[in-house]
Amino acid sequence: MSELNKIALKILSNRKGILAADESNGTMTKRLESINVKSSPENRLKFREILFSSEEGMKNIGGVILYDETIRQTASSGKKIPELINSFGSVPGIKVDTGAKRMVLDPTNALRMVETITEGLDDLRERLEEYYELGARFTKWRAVININKSCPSELTINANAHALARYASLVQEAKMVPIIEPEVLMNGDHNINKCYEVTSRVLQECYRELKFHNVDLKGTILKPNMILPGDKSSNKSEAQEIAKMTLKCLKENVPSEVPGIAFLSGGQSEIEATQNLNEINKINDTNFIISFSYGRALQQGALKSWGKDQKDILNTQKIFSQRSKMNGLASTGQWLKELETE
Ligand code: 13P
Repeated sequence: MSELNKIALKILSNRKGILAADESNGTMTKRLESINVKSSPENRLKFREILFSSEEGMKNIGGVILYDETIRQTASSGKKIPELINSFGSVPGIKVDTGAKRMVLDPTNALRMVETITEGLDDLRERLEEYYELGARFTKWRAVININKSCPSELTINANAHALARYASLVQEAKMVPIIEPEVLMNGDHNINKCYEVTSRVLQECYRELKFHNVDLKGTILKPNMILPGDKSSNKSEAQEIAKMTLKCLKENVPSEVPGIAFLSGGQSEIEATQNLNEINKINDTNFIISFSYGRALQQGALKSWGKDQKDILNTQKIFSQRSKMNGLASTGQWLKELETE
């Protein structure tokens, strides 16, 4: 077994998933302002440290994705943040893309930034070396694909898949596991079939490019969206249908060498994200470990509780631990709605 494959399995085995705490300072500012907390490096660390030091909560967290600011910070105990994460047997990771920018010559709507290309390849080799020194053993790069009447274009799908493959090969050269995240957004009035069709095209192109760039798929983790109707679609789908279509899409488009798939939550509510993951695992007849890499769906409730009383660290941790435990159960199809009322 290769070292990279071992890391990928360590992150996702035994009912574990990933805590995506890599919000950029801009996004984190919005989150903190929503609970009337000033966004400063100290306050961003305070909230994140509450999560990272929760012994219960970390039981189901095999990896934590950090932002550049956080991987350099020191917890109140004096431990460096990557050290704190390691102390729970969890693996520190780092977001390395520099964000989705407007796609060149985007014919759809230059002002609304419908088509985007994710950037961050400049100096990536050198940045990876530094992140490895700081303790990171896996990385994340998120491509963003929008659905509307005229997009995504082939150009946008191809340019993003190409960038993901260049990123992944550099990350493996630096001895870390790349998370491949091509997110098809749920914004829009499209139906579930459209999401299925676009996600299939995107995954096919990603794996074509990854293979072309000689990426060892056994040393990668896929972070996809679930197959969902658009958030403004008039047709809602039951969890069973979402699970069936999501698993079908993965089986048809993800090579069997990929050891693990960890979904993003992408704007689903906390319970929806857990329930859908559970339904997928109930019918998972593949060898893929299918788990979670949630940002909002692991943190929303905890953030709200912290906003109400910043001194009540235990309650904030309790709420985070509940989400982490519920998603751990969902990663083997053993979650039950009744457990949510505990
Ligand atoms: P959400 O689960 O909030 O979509 O965030 C996951 C993530 O890391 C997006 O890149």
